[in-house]
Amino acid sequence: MNMRTRVGIIGAGPAGLLLSLLLAREGIDSLVLESRSREEVESTIRAGVLEQGTVDLMIEMGLGERMQREGFVHHGIELRFDGYGHRIHLYELTNGRAITIYPQHEVIKDCVAARLNQGEHILFNVENVQLSNVTSRQPLIRFVQGSEQIELQCDFIAGCDGFHGVSRSSIPEAQQHVFTRSYPFGWLGILMQAPPSAQELIYAYSDRGFALVSTRSPELQRMYIQCDPQDDIANWSDEMILEELQVRLATKDHWKLHVGPIIQKSILAMRSFVIEPMQYGRLFLAGDAAHIVPPTGAKGLNLAVADVRHLARALTLYYQQNQTHLLEAYSTTCLRRVWRTEHFSWWMTSMLHRFPDDDAFQQRMQRAQLDYTVSSRAASASLAENYVGLPFDW
Ligand code: FAD
Ligand code: PHB
Repeated sequence: MNMRTRVGIIGAGPAGLLLSLLLAREGIDSLVLESRSREEVESTIRAGVLEQGTVDLMIEMGLGERMQREGFVHHGIELRFDGYGHRIHLYELTNGRAITIYPQHEVIKDCVAARLNQGEHILFNVENVQLSNVTSRQPLIRFVQGSEQIELQCDFIAGCDGFHGVSRSSIPEAQQHVFTRSYPFGWLGILMQAPPSAQELIYAYSDRGFALVSTRSPELQRMYIQCDPQDDIANWSDEMILEELQVRLATKDHWKLHVGPIIQKSILAMRSFVIEPMQYGRLFLAGDAAHIVPPTGAKGLNLAVADVRHLARALTLYYQQNQTHLLEAYSTTCLRRVWRTEHFSWWMTSMLHRFPDDDAFQQRMQRAQLDYTVSSRAASASLAENYVGLPFDW
């Protein structure tokens, strides 16, 4: 069977879904191809922190209703070390910008519902997606749905299929400039049924390693502890996890962690990754397909959103005014923010984690950096500006 659309979008993550909605707003048709089921896509637990710019965009697009009702606006975060917490007043330091805690899978649900409401523009459970002719004017996506082999002819392909997708590998290796850094630690993430232990997120540095307290709802809390990335989650009993959290988060004024049943736990590896350029012919990469950041800065989803805003704007200019300069500038435009965000995420990660080969000197460096970050208004403001997200057109 043959099909045709203007923009073939691979992947129904935040990048692919938002791109299809942004294009639809300008009357540009697209089709999203997703290898997983709708249920799976809508239930995978990932990010939790939305930058101000992401929130503003969701509202502007009419996607903000549930987020504004169920999400939590936070005006600060806490950096905790040596037994004391220090608040970074995001709101005050950034002229009234803030973050919103609203889980990624809820963003996905809102986007899927909005897009399917406009017609059958997302195909789930597709298999064997292959890209061809990406350097021609008529790129092609072949895929299987059910038992049917389908050829989708497009003007452009958006590779929004995450780090493990197929799009990036369609770029010849000789054209790929890849930059990577892997970290000698991972995060053990849990979901716990308990009331919140704090009003804002806590990023803790301790001799035993990093810990993060985040939230999902008044009844469900999300927490992470630094661990060996090769470790098997089966080696971690619930008691061990709670013990580590309590030790790493302990304060001189006896702060208390509210505990309850752990209903999910898993270990994730951490890496930094960038491919340059983010375009090859008529294939444009966006989101995790093009770059990965360690989660310490809470940036991955937000960076994916920034990419597709640029891509949607560039495609709109092409279709409405037949101008290609924004498409040609896509990669350069995105990479500026990508590298700023890579640096911020690497910096937060380096400041807050214990490294297996660190020595007393390195630990003193980390403490000096933490102390400066919480004591200097300029340093706090720099963290705050990056954390709430630089303006879209920065
Ligand atoms: P994805 O969300 O990975 O979506 C890609 C989609 O493509 C998937 O649905 C996949 O099934 C589909 N796909 C893959 N291959 C194919 C194929 N061959 N054919 C068809 N479809 C395919 N970011 C933040 O901003 N804030 C946070 O607080 C934060 N916390 C995080 C915590 C954790 C534990 C993790 C793991 C990540 C976190 N992130 C965070 C990062 C964030 O989740 C990702 O950056 C974000 O999901 C990227 O979106 P995406 O659309 O580019 O890719
Ligand atoms: C989350 O709530 O999952 C979360 C919060 C902050 C981060 C990373 C993840 O830096």
